Amino acid sequence: MDYPKPDDDGDSESCSCSGQAVSPSLYGDARAEIRRRDFAKFLATVGGLTAVASLSAPLASTTQVFERSYEGPIYSDGVALIDENGDRVTETTLAEGEHMTVFPEPRPGIEDAPTLLVRFAESDYSDAIDEGFVVSGYAAFSKICTHAGCLVAEREGNEIVCPCHFGKFDMTDGAAVTGGPPGRPLPQLPITLTSAGELVATGDFDGAIGPGGE
Ligand code: FES
Repeated sequence: MDYPKPDDDGDSESCSCSGQAVSPSLYGDARAEIRRRDFAKFLATVGGLTAVASLSAPLASTTQVFERSYEGPIYSDGVALIDENGDRVTETTLAEGEHMTVFPEPRPGIEDAPTLLVRFAESDYSDAIDEGFVVSGYAAFSKICTHAGCLVAEREGNEIVCPCHFGKFDMTDGAAVTGGPPGRPLPQLPITLTSAGELVATGDFDGAIGPGGE
């Protein structure tokens, strides 16, 4: 299958990172209410992601292409994961089989960073998952697709699907690519639980955010 290339031209919907409208269809979960302003803020802070173009995506009728320039850390040891209301995520926030969008607790330079948090039975995770990336059934991943930078959103069982070109990632296998054009997994976040039962990062994502990277 031929997938649209970043330099394709077409009737794409516009991208927030250049101040244009963002299709609400990019956000297919509880964070669907991410406002344009918030998303633009995310692009300017977390990713330093600058729009370079929009492109056609005939399969999904929505696209978003970014070029990453910011290389700084997003999470670090001890940074708490919070929900969209700013409340810290705890061990009881999700039941097995559920997922949600979380963010790093705000600190200078970082105000929003959509992160996919999932919870499965620990026995559901593959042996390929390193210790430190799953705690009490929780695992966390970047929501920025590694193909062209759209936000992954739709859930299909153990997989999370990118709406732009139907890239698929298996959340129980370290977000390994199981379909579509992405060339590498979604970066995973090392996490742990504090003595207070709150989920925190123990470092930054294990790979580059968004398109490109190794
Ligand atoms: S941006 Fe193309 S599959 Fe996600």
